[in-house]
Amino acid sequence: MKLNRFELKLLSGKLRCWVQEYYDIRQWRKLGARPCVNGSALDIGCGQGNGIKLAMSKFGVATVDAFDIDDRMLDISRRATAHLGGVKITNNSATEIAAPSDTYDIVFDYQVLHHIVDWQSALNEVHRVMKPNAQLMIAESLPGLIENSWIGRRMNHPRSNRFTVSQLQDQLLASGFVLSKSRIIGDHFIWLIATKR
Ligand SMILES: C[S@@+](CC[C@H](N)C(=O)[O-])C[C@H]1O[C@@H](n2cnc3c(N)ncnc32)[C@H](O)[C@@H]1O
Repeated sequence: MKLNRFELKLLSGKLRCWVQEYYDIRQWRKLGARPCVNGSALDIGCGQGNGIKLAMSKFGVATVDAFDIDDRMLDISRRATAHLGGVKITNNSATEIAAPSDTYDIVFDYQVLHHIVDWQSALNEVHRVMKPNAQLMIAESLPGLIENSWIGRRMNHPRSNRFTVSQLQDQLLASGFVLSKSRIIGDHFIWLIATKR
């Protein structure tokens, strides 16, 4: 599901970059994130494209494929990363990823799964395109934020088939991942790393 104007504004600026760099990545490091020097990365639902830059600068990957379903975000992310080599940005959905199996060393999900009605299919697809032992970095919002908070109610999210912490963890295991510990804030946010078996 695409962003409404409120969330588009919130997620296309410096504040969002700051949260990703100084909060999301810090959480993943505490959970045991490994560097991925010269690796190949995938950024699902890349938004304004900051995750692409961070994959290179913080994890050391050489190439990043990124996609989004929203042409507005594709325009912004292409402009933001035009100076970087090794980046390919396409219009694609996480439920049907246009890449062969066993392609990526690391995949980033910065706040995307909760925008997808069939998030279970998206996880199966992500698992398919990851190499064995590759890491899926997850930073997600939970129903307490999406459904009950002032800020969440001003955004556009699917209302059916939402996931709780245990539903997300159970599906990751069912998709074939091994899980790190989770960092959870109330019923609002979760960070974890899922490694392909
Ligand atoms: C909350 S934003 C996060 C954007 C970016 N990852 C960030 O953290 O700033 C969610 C993004 O996921 C995209 N999106 C929604 N459904 C998608 C799908 N099925 N496949 C790929 N991207 C999707 C939206 O267009 C939006 O850009």
